[in-house]
Parts: sequence; structure tokens; C-alpha cells
Amino acid sequence: MGFVKNAEDITKMKQGGKILAEILSGLRKMLVPGRNCLDLEKEFIKLCAKNKVVPTCKGYSPHGMPPFPTGLCVSINNQSVHCFPKKEIILKDGDVVTVDTVIKYKGLNVDAAFSTVVGRETDPLKRKLVDTAKSALYETIAEVAPGVRIGRISNKMQKIVESQGLNVLKDYAGHGIGREMHEYPEIPCYGSKNDGPKLVEGMTICIEALVCTGDDIVVNDSEWETRMADDGYFAQAEHTILVTKDGYEILTLKEK
Ligand code: MF3
Ligand code: CO
Repeated sequence: MGFVKNAEDITKMKQGGKILAEILSGLRKMLVPGRNCLDLEKEFIKLCAKNKVVPTCKGYSPHGMPPFPTGLCVSINNQSVHCFPKKEIILKDGDVVTVDTVIKYKGLNVDAAFSTVVGRETDPLKRKLVDTAKSALYETIAEVAPGVRIGRISNKMQKIVESQGLNVLKDYAGHGIGREMHEYPEIPCYGSKNDGPKLVEGMTICIEALVCTGDDIVVNDSEWETRMADDGYFAQAEHTILVTKDGYEILTLKEK
């Protein structure tokens, strides 16, 4: 069972998780109208160097994909997963922004993401979208414990999101994490509660609430960049979580 981490790896992931939470909290404050998205990337790369962590996404090139160009994934409005900051993109009031990234600390990865609405908000649908992504993440994390099937998380995620009149993405999923950014098991945002493998103490997983306001169909703008086909809004909330003896510990939270 290679996906179960030893005590040493868990310690490293706990430390890395706190660093990532601090970094994301700093980046969140930069999400203001007039902000050039490349500023976020520059600050992120600086913070990675300062904290002696590797920005795992930068140059990531699985199965023949072109290397991912940046350390951060930044998506705006109808953009979906795996978009990246570009210099011509300036944030404005009401933009739905998602920041998603992975860092590696002492050889172990941690992954987290959040969405927010920039500046003054006028559209209640955008607020509902980002709030639902966040609550769906926390409510499904609450299910995590040894012996619990992945399907229970997936099924609960789908129910919470659909009860708000929103949709979950079907083409992308949460995942195990460790020495690799994506490890066993896959954690979809939908499905039956009796499906999937059971969680085991010592597993480290990323639950990703991948939520959209419209249809769940995602199209590609390039090999990496994706967009909601119907131009609906997209939001994401993600944490790295350790399965403990009695339940769980969220690793990508700031030190209290
Ligand atoms: N949280 C994202 C994921 O698990 C991070 C992707 S980084 C990228 O897919 F390099 F693949 F873009
Ligand atoms: Co992830």
C-alpha cells in the first residue's frame, strides 16, 4: 500500500501544507480590481524561493503534454481548470477568480485551491457559486475517516452542489497526493456512495470541489487551458487532507 504515508512523510506534508496555506493567504489579498494576474505568479515564485519549496506545476508535463507554463493555475469567470496567468489579464470588480497550486516541500507535494469574487459584487449567483464550492469541500471533508468509501465523498459533494442548482464537473477529480502530485485514489465530484475504494489511515488525499453555474461540459482553449462550454462560471475549493485514526486532519490550513 504505497499510498499510505509513513510518519516522516506525514510530518513533511504537514509542514508543507502550512507553508502553502500561508502563501495562498498572501495571494488572496492581492485579488483586487486593477491587478495584473502575472503579479500573482511573480509573488508566488518569490514566496516559493523564500520558503524553500518547489512550485510543482511549473514545467509539469504528464503524458506528452507541453510543460505547464506557470507555478499557479489562475482561472477567471468562464475559465475552468488548468488555466494560467497571462500579462494581458487585469482583474476587475465582479470577476470570479480561482487560484490553484501545488508545492513540493522536502520531496512531498501539497495541493490547495480557492475561489473568490473580486471587489464589489453585484451578481448573487457568483457569491453562491464560490460559497457552495467552499461549503461542499468542508462538508465532504467532514466525512473523511478510515473505512469510508470515496463514493460517500463524491455522492455528498454532488448532492450539496446540485441542491443549490449548480453543477459539478465530471471530467476532472480530486486525487491522492504525495511524492507525486496525482496519486491513487481518484476522488470524483459525483457518483454513488457505494462506489470506489475505502480510505485508509495514513492516506493523503486532495478533495476538489469543482463547481459550475451551468452545464458541466468543459472545452479546451489550448492543450492545458479549459473553459465552460456554455460560458457559465466556474469555482474550485481544494485542500490536502490526511486520513487519521479517528477521522482527518486538513493539512493546507494556516497555523492557528
Ligand atoms: N489541483 C490541480 C490538480 O490537481 C493542480 C494542477 S497543476 C497543473 O489537477 F500543473 F496540472 F496544472
Ligand atoms: Co489537485
